[in-house]
Amino acid sequence: MIPSDFIDELLAKVDIVDIIDERVPLKKGGANYMACCPFHKEKSPSFSVSPTKQFYHCFGCGAHGSAIGFLMEYQGLGFAEAVQYLADRVGMTVPKTGGRTENHEQRAERKKKQQTLEETMQACADFYQGRLKTAPEAQQYLNTRGLNAEIIAHYGLGYAPDGWQPLAQVFRPYPSTPLVDSGQVIHNEEQNRYYDRFRHRIMFPIRDTKGQVIGFGGRVLDNSKPKYLNSPDTPLFDKGKNLYGLYEGRAAIKEAGRILVVEGYMDVVALAQFGIGYGVASLGTSTTADHVKMLMRQTDSIYFCFDGDGAGRKAAWRALENALPQLKDDKSLHFLFLPEEHDPDSYIRAFGKTQFEDALLHQSKPLSEYFWEHLADGLNLNTQEGKAELVKTASPLLAQITAPALAFLLKQRLSELVGIDPDNLARLLGQEAPKRHIKQKSYKLPPATARQPAMLTLVQRQIRSLLINPGWAAYIDLPEYLALEGDFACLANLAEMIKSHAAPPGSAQILEHMRGSPYEDTVHRIFQSTLQSADEWEADNEENCENFKIGMKKLLNELKYSQIETLKQKSADSGLNDYEKKLLVSLLMSKTN
Ligand code: UTP
Ligand code: MN
Repeated sequence: MIPSDFIDELLAKVDIVDIIDERVPLKKGGANYMACCPFHKEKSPSFSVSPTKQFYHCFGCGAHGSAIGFLMEYQGLGFAEAVQYLADRVGMTVPKTGGRTENHEQRAERKKKQQTLEETMQACADFYQGRLKTAPEAQQYLNTRGLNAEIIAHYGLGYAPDGWQPLAQVFRPYPSTPLVDSGQVIHNEEQNRYYDRFRHRIMFPIRDTKGQVIGFGGRVLDNSKPKYLNSPDTPLFDKGKNLYGLYEGRAAIKEAGRILVVEGYMDVVALAQFGIGYGVASLGTSTTADHVKMLMRQTDSIYFCFDGDGAGRKAAWRALENALPQLKDDKSLHFLFLPEEHDPDSYIRAFGKTQFEDALLHQSKPLSEYFWEHLADGLNLNTQEGKAELVKTASPLLAQITAPALAFLLKQRLSELVGIDPDNLARLLGQEAPKRHIKQKSYKLPPATARQPAMLTLVQRQIRSLLINPGWAAYIDLPEYLALEGDFACLANLAEMIKSHAAPPGSAQILEHMRGSPYEDTVHRIFQSTLQSADEWEADNEENCENFKIGMKKLLNELKYSQIETLKQKSADSGLNDYEKKLLVSLLMSKTN
């Protein structure tokens, strides 16, 4: 058994929109995404995917489920296979069967630890920012780099003072577990000494998309080495999943409608100083697939601008390789190569904003152009050998592209470049393409009844509302002495499961929790037949909530009434035992108030 905590976390990390969109291209329609349903034949889209609920639902045939359920249905994977596939995508390790699982207390403890780390990082950032004001040398350095007070404040730049333990000035006790766990203090085990990681450096706080400080980059003020130090990966900080400047640049990114990826912290800040606020930097690592996904979530146009040196070119190609599986037909990627001696910082300083943006828009290469240019570099395409080599290097890369139009166009271009007609080329490429595990789909037409709004009992309606709005579990209080059966037991079980979480899980998680439980069928039946339109998903308003509370009151009374009747009947038939007598009394008393 895979622990349900793990499934919760997994579903919180993957994005069902990505998972489905890669297989069934989605179009945005209001708050949700739509497509023609892959599970039944239809001409107009009634298949809807909710990013907030991480849930898909077809209003035509009733098909529904989480990202896991989708992979099982669409691709014919088993449950464990689907979980493994998703875990691989987000870099989680599926716990071994029989392994220890995280219980409620352990989870609470982990959350608490995380909060402590967040507070520690914020306190460090505040300290560094404060110390910049009393450090003329650091201020002077930032001045010579052309940064003004506004930009320094916008990026929260600071200064880590000299000495071995500057943080001891604000942290008591020093050292402490959070200081060490956050990477701010280093423990030298041989000498059993503790000292600050960042000393006498300009500090760049790295924030996540919510603005929480999760790490730092620190630059020396002179030419000493290493030039930059970075926080290590910690429970808060994962370099492959965060981008420097994304939080600070969110308004500018929106306004410009594009995002610019550069190599260095200083590039981001300098660009902003010169009026280009939409720059972000990977954190001393190459651009990962996760980065590309994050970038594409922000905007449709993504520009990469790496340094003009060999390392910059290498970094650009790495970024392209990692981007291939993530590409989408409605997103464009461009690559700008600066003159050898420049990085974005020095370039914008030398030529200014207008020329920089002009170069960005008019001299950058679209991915498709850079792709062939790079691959054909050094090949003589007038020879058979050159052409064969191009097919060989291009085919594994082309196989990774799932964006249909782009894949088609790139293959067509390859066919032109090597002079093999598209059909023959397709056969050639087909042999190179990785095997896909896609089961032949058989269209199951939905049962006719599924299209009719089903008549639901009150308790079923309450279950349905709870599935759509898990937070409403707070209004469910079913006293233990009530004997609960059937749908009532299902409702109570759902409420209890939701309340056992620190924060209410989403619909997708709930559905996965129900997998294999006695209530699985009930839950599926309700989803299958009753959702008629996308509005119903967004039913979290005050009026509906009031109705839900009223419904709970009615249910409770119904339950009590039927139980009282049963007990009265039994009393008349065969008499009650002590327990039943007490129960009847408490039921009668509670009913009057
Ligand atoms: P660069 O060496 O290109 O520095 O490193 P830069 O951005 O031009 O910085 P300035 O202009 O000299 O201040 C680019 C990025 O590589 C990582 C950092 O993330 C840096 O922003 N890096 C570089 C390190 O992590 N450590 C280093 O010692 C150097
Ligand atoms: Mn530089």
